[in-house]
Amino acid sequence: MSRLDGKIAIVTGASGGIGRATAETFAEEGAIVYATDVTEPSPGFADARIRFFKHDVASAEAWDQLVVEAIARCGRIDILVNNAGIGGSMAPVTDENLESWDRVIAVNLTGPFLGMRAVLPHMRERKTGSVINVSSIWGNAAVAFGAAYHATKGAVRQLTKHAAVVCGPDNVRVNSVHPGVVATPPVLVAQSPEATSVILGASALGRMAQPVELARAMLFLASDDSGFMTGSELVVDGGYLAKGS
Ligand SMILES: NC(=O)c1ccc[n+]([C@@H]2O[C@H](COP(=O)([O-])OP(=O)(O)OC[C@H]3O[C@@H](n4cnc5c(N)ncnc54)[C@H](O)[C@@H]3O)[C@@H](O)[C@H]2O)c1
Repeated sequence: MSRLDGKIAIVTGASGGIGRATAETFAEEGAIVYATDVTEPSPGFADARIRFFKHDVASAEAWDQLVVEAIARCGRIDILVNNAGIGGSMAPVTDENLESWDRVIAVNLTGPFLGMRAVLPHMRERKTGSVINVSSIWGNAAVAFGAAYHATKGAVRQLTKHAAVVCGPDNVRVNSVHPGVVATPPVLVAQSPEATSVILGASALGRMAQPVELARAMLFLASDDSGFMTGSELVVDGGYLAKGS
């Protein structure tokens, strides 16, 4: 038996590196997956268990439409992965511009809030569910760039713990995942190779993760294998936080 047989999952930001790998891994493990993003996946998903749904996580209306659709077609939602995220200007706090700040807050923080507000009532009613919020090592530690990114990822870490406390009595679990450097466009295209190599040099394994290595951590949190975990932060960072310098 597969680990997510018959489960209904939503994965946001699923046209990107980590989200796509997560949607595909969940489908391989037997889930029906609503793979959502503001941009179409390219190439499209090959697995018929994955349904693409165009969806801006910063829009409350878009969340309502997604939840209505998933409940109408599948009857329930078992797993929510709030994965969509952006870096914005990645400027330090002294140079950050308000427009970029507001957009990063809207996508990285308001997005997971709206997602949980839309989905958790259904999970609580059914007394089962797993929510995974994608934070970052920059939710735990800091470097000298990415003020808004740090602010949102730290807030997501703490919002996760709050939601876990609220929903624990209803057997709904809420955890965060904290990736280190992952081989996806924000790192491979947007981040300077110098910054990447400094971070990798400060990690125990000294290499980037592949997106599927994050997807497997999400699979663990989504499945019953992690049944006694809630409010926790799963660090998947090649030992960056352990080494610390
Ligand atoms: N790549 C890394 O090294 C790394 C490290 C730590 C944390 N993360 C986090 O992992 C998550 C996924 O990142 P990734 O590396 O796969 O990036 P990515 O850019 O490959 O994927 C992110 C996806 O989110 C989508 N998106 C952006 N704004 C959206 C919106 N408003 N609504 C819906 N979708 C939207 C994008 O279109 C994109 O497909 C993000 O939350 C990111 O902050 C990534």
